[in-house]
Amino acid sequence: MKRIAINALVDLGCLLTFIPTLVTGLVLYLYLPSGSGRGSSWSTWMGVSRHDWVLYHDIAGFAFVALLIVHLLLHWHFFRHIGRNLHSGTGDDSDTAE
Ligand code: HEM
Repeated sequence: MKRIAINALVDLGCLLTFIPTLVTGLVLYLYLPSGSGRGSSWSTWMGVSRHDWVLYHDIAGFAFVALLIVHLLLHWHFFRHIGRNLHSGTGDDSDTAE
């Protein structure tokens, strides 16, 4: 598989795991915050228990972080030369080539 296709798949995975992480995190923050009386595992929002919101948040969050690490490794060359890449103004796209 071409490197650019791998990058695209990893980036798509980042997006698809970040969105549920953000949504479940916001639900926990806004509707089921700990220490509010609604922080019990069995409190519910939209028919789903806090325990399950936390579970979905954890699964999506850790999948997101794992993919983010893969993303950073795929662009390691860019970060290793970040000073030069930022100063050149053109960016170093050598890690997106085939
Ligand atoms: C998108 C941004 C995120 C938001 C807005 C967010 C928000 C939250 C909130 C509000 C809580 C509950 C705190 C409480 O009241 O107890 C929480 C818990 C937690 N979050 Fe996130 N979070 C985000 C990203 C992440 C990511 C990327 C990870 C993965 C590394 C993560 C892992 C966790 C864990 C492990 C908990 C503790 C759950 C528990 O109570 O067992 N979060 N987050």
